[in-house]
Amino acid sequence: MKKVFSVAIDGPAGAGKSTIAKSLSKKLGVIYVDTGAMYRAMALYLLRSGVDPEDSAAISAKCREADISIAFEDGVQQVMLNGENVSGLIRTEEVSRMASKSSVNADVRAKLVELQQKLAEKEALVMDGRDIGTVVLPNAEVKIYLTASSAVRAKRRYDELKAKGEDCDLVTIEADIIERDHRDMTREISPLKQAEDAVLVDTSDMSIEEVENCLIGIVEDKING
Ligand code: DC
Repeated sequence: MKKVFSVAIDGPAGAGKSTIAKSLSKKLGVIYVDTGAMYRAMALYLLRSGVDPEDSAAISAKCREADISIAFEDGVQQVMLNGENVSGLIRTEEVSRMASKSSVNADVRAKLVELQQKLAEKEALVMDGRDIGTVVLPNAEVKIYLTASSAVRAKRRYDELKAKGEDCDLVTIEADIIERDHRDMTREISPLKQAEDAVLVDTSDMSIEEVENCLIGIVEDKING
């Protein structure tokens, strides 16, 4: 295998991409790049700027001012927005909603895709997102499309929120997931879809350990085969 190799993991929100991508990158001894965090940092900038999520011209103009980069602290990705570490500020529902809307913008995507491609040129990595295998790294050595039913993804999210002591409703969470999937899958630019040469893994009935073992098997097959 070449020295700089890439593993691309795509799929809808809640399929377990980041958990699995993190553990896989550790096992492979390479960095893990979470591209959703970049879209979230951009969304935070747009929210702070008071941009209307439906105003695509304003989003195109404002996104030029946002300098987004990543750094690693103890192997954990940190997202920097104009020099400020915003990693702790991007996991809110408000940022999620704005990221889902602003990530349909062509200028936002062009800017972040360029950053992602530059990272992959320099270093071996596991990168996760929605368009990694299709657009960002079409020549990735390994491509995986990780999914799970909306009911299972909603239940996972519900359990996560409950564990944090947050009040939530399973039906609303699933409706929100279905709406977001629809937006991600039907947008004009880089919609979420399985690359032709990606391996499909449905995690609905799998434990984290089972998914980890399955992915390691896929990577080993590609390396050896
Ligand atoms: O994976 P996430 O929930 O952190 O992603 C946040 C938003 O960014 C989500 O609406 C999908 C979008 N996104 C994208 O369009 N392309 C990517 N490569 C990663 C995320």
